[in-house]
Amino acid sequence: MRKFILIILCAATLLSSFSCVVIDVDETTKSQPGSVNTSGKETSADPIGTGVETIPDITEAPGTTPPVTEPVTEAKTEADTEPKTTEPPVTEAPETMFKTDLSAFEKYMDPADPSEYLILVNPANPMTDHSYKPKDLTKLVKVREGRSSKYMREYAAKAFEAMMKEADANGCKDLSVTSAFRSYSDQESLFQYYVDKFMAKGMSKEEAIAATRVDTAYPGESEHQTGLAVDVHNLSAADQKFADKYEGKWLAENCWKFGFILRYPLGKEDITGYVFEPWHFRFVGRTHAKRIYDLGITLEEYLEKYYKD
Ligand code: DAL
Ligand code: ZN
Repeated sequence: MRKFILIILCAATLLSSFSCVVIDVDETTKSQPGSVNTSGKETSADPIGTGVETIPDITEAPGTTPPVTEPVTEAKTEADTEPKTTEPPVTEAPETMFKTDLSAFEKYMDPADPSEYLILVNPANPMTDHSYKPKDLTKLVKVREGRSSKYMREYAAKAFEAMMKEADANGCKDLSVTSAFRSYSDQESLFQYYVDKFMAKGMSKEEAIAATRVDTAYPGESEHQTGLAVDVHNLSAADQKFADKYEGKWLAENCWKFGFILRYPLGKEDITGYVFEPWHFRFVGRTHAKRIYDLGITLEEYLEKYYKD
């Protein structure tokens, strides 16, 4: 049976004071000073777009954090691996779906164990091990100029490379990665950076935390720590307007072929806990990506419907 890996940590109480209503920005690229995203909230300065402000470039190279215990192996039980009641619909991916020859990438896009990457990390399911860092982090292609190297887990990185090749062949322009794997301490620094920024604008600490929480996952709750998430777009700052661009549409419609899902879709904010992020893609492998895409549901809904005890 498929394995479903559930990461659980009893840190939910830490979150009780934080708002669940969110605006969102790219974690390492925020909108221009004074700009307003489509959620109507003012967002922070963009260091890439303006060069005026610098935010911590929090993605570090592999091997720079202590050894970790893989949380993915800890919480696994037989019950976790069993589908709930019904099987999700199975749809075969067409064999001739790519313009480019991606045969060398096929095993990565469609992993032999289709559920190996079916991991859930969200506010209700934080990382069980704060020091977790994947052992197979692999350098990504197409990292935004001026940024440090970015990494994802090997299969996700290879599948991402395939997606970028095909995106190029389909006329997508200037896509680049602004964030990928982030350690717990990366996320902690990022979170604190925004709290400080909001406080500097006159908010109380509580208000600043709430405002940050809606933009950025609390440390331990970001799936960027799994090494399976990537932020990719071609705007100077992450913005929901990316969804209206050809590249944003192409990625949203085609990402499943490479094993990715659009993790925080429009209209599902109450379920994901985050606003629409048309730039944030999550690797789950093609089998599940296709089902999730076809069903038009979130990872939370998919796991609840088909894989909960
Ligand atoms: N913005 C996403 C939710 C994160 O910080 O992981
Ligand atoms: Zn992201």
